[in-house]
Amino acid sequence: MKVHVFRDSAALAKAAASIFLAQLLRKPDSVLGLATGSSPIETYQELIRLHQEGIADFSKATSFNLDEYVGLAADHPQSYVAFMQQQLFGQVNFKASHLPSGVAENLEAECSRYDQAILQAGGIDLQLLGIGSNGHIGFNEPDARFVYNTSIVKLAESTIEANQRFFDSLDQVPRQAISMGIGTIMEARTILLIATGKGKAEAIKGLVQGQIDPLLPASILRAHPDAVILLDKEAASLLKA
Ligand code: GLP
Repeated sequence: MKVHVFRDSAALAKAAASIFLAQLLRKPDSVLGLATGSSPIETYQELIRLHQEGIADFSKATSFNLDEYVGLAADHPQSYVAFMQQQLFGQVNFKASHLPSGVAENLEAECSRYDQAILQAGGIDLQLLGIGSNGHIGFNEPDARFVYNTSIVKLAESTIEANQRFFDSLDQVPRQAISMGIGTIMEARTILLIATGKGKAEAIKGLVQGQIDPLLPASILRAHPDAVILLDKEAASLLKA
């Protein structure tokens, strides 16, 4: 696991976008794993800029997102499909983009379909991750064990509270999500986790300096052969030098 600390989120976003650009230049038909939340927004803005300048071309690339809320259709403004459309897809030229459907009639079947679709695409080359302040990745919450496949997950109270800021009230935050599993994430050839701000410092300390523990789901990345962690100074503030 490589850890890099940047002076601010803008410098971090440029570095993250460069890693995506290098991946696209090396393999134009890359399969990119994408994330939602506030953490990737600046990276997406950088990618949009690189695309507008004719430097980044996504026309042969496909994407798979980590997760989606159960019960939110694509036209719901807080659905992750709407987020991705607004923050990235509407402004770049992916060949195809995939998210799990949180309104599929059979959610269990949707989970297997999603894992199959990733396999059929050849697996994920580069997976972008944020991290929850409780150490979740995707929506894999702290638990007694790691869940391997894409599955339906119950959101932790702390996640519901953290995500309340995107909704009008706590009641409106979905209680469940469909999320790539830890195994699905770990199968990505390269993993790029980004974290900014003091609120992530504890989780980052556990990830970088703790043990692998399903109570801190991101800690599994210690076992990945090619995981890169990009932090700003605040997210890195509890790390020993
Ligand atoms: C959400 C998402 C995660 C994201 C995390 C952190 O719950 N499912 O993929 O990494 O929260 O979000 P933020 O980047 O807004 O802090």
